[in-house]
Amino acid sequence: MTDPVTAWHRLAGDTVLLDGFHALKHALRFRAEVPVAVTADRTAALALADELAPDVRDTLAALLAEVPHETYTSLVPRPHPTAVAALAVRPSRASNLAKLAHTPRTAPVVVLDNPRNLGNAGAVIRLAAGFGATGVVTTGTVDPWHPTVVRGGAGLHFATAVERLDVTDLPPGPLFALDPEGDDIRGIKLPDDAVLAFGSERTGLSPELRARADHLLALPMRPQVSSYNLATSVAMTLYHWSSGAS
Ligand SMILES: C[S@@+](CC[C@H](N)C(=O)[O-])C[C@H]1O[C@@H](n2cnc3c(N)ncnc32)[C@H](O)[C@@H]1O
Repeated sequence: MTDPVTAWHRLAGDTVLLDGFHALKHALRFRAEVPVAVTADRTAALALADELAPDVRDTLAALLAEVPHETYTSLVPRPHPTAVAALAVRPSRASNLAKLAHTPRTAPVVVLDNPRNLGNAGAVIRLAAGFGATGVVTTGTVDPWHPTVVRGGAGLHFATAVERLDVTDLPPGPLFALDPEGDDIRGIKLPDDAVLAFGSERTGLSPELRARADHLLALPMRPQVSSYNLATSVAMTLYHWSSGAS
């Protein structure tokens, strides 16, 4: 068997870092391929699994290799309190694009139009996973698989289809763009095949996305408030969809 540190160094450039017990737990639950996982304290990690993740406990027991604490800290950019780290294989772009394009769709796709804050993007992927959204598409330059986004997503990139696309290549379905100037969302029932688009933290929706939108929708907000945070806007909109309300 290859020793885990050698395997780590061989795989690190082409894989996704799962930082901490919870990210690894989530990734395994959503069937990520995890070729290597290390911990500085296997007993503590398996005790956490007994308590919080009995469903993946056996998988973790088979996967987790204990390494000295200094070795663990040398493998990660900043140590996690659970002293667990793993590398997962990024799903192929082709498989994600097929999931995003598949119709009929049973849950919306979330589009982040040129997001700038990597933590926001991670939080949105976690929300999309929680609501069972079909996927999260980003436009613009940010890679939604950037390590900081993956960290913010808590291993849930594997629970939904996450890809970057141009505005011209967005998945099919009616495009609802969220903007404080739109019609009140409370009067609209969002369909399961909706594409729900949100603007950049700095500049809002791009002209290209605005031009393609079928509907502009606003979240309720007092007049003196300019806008909500991007991730909280996604949360409210996905909640509105999930409630089936109009
Ligand atoms: C932080 S806001 C962008 C603020 C930006 N300065 C602007 O000019 O729009 C990020 C995104 O969240 C969504 N958003 C925030 N508040 C909203 C509201 N009250 N109604 C609808 N969408 C909202 C929009 O999609 C917006 O583009």
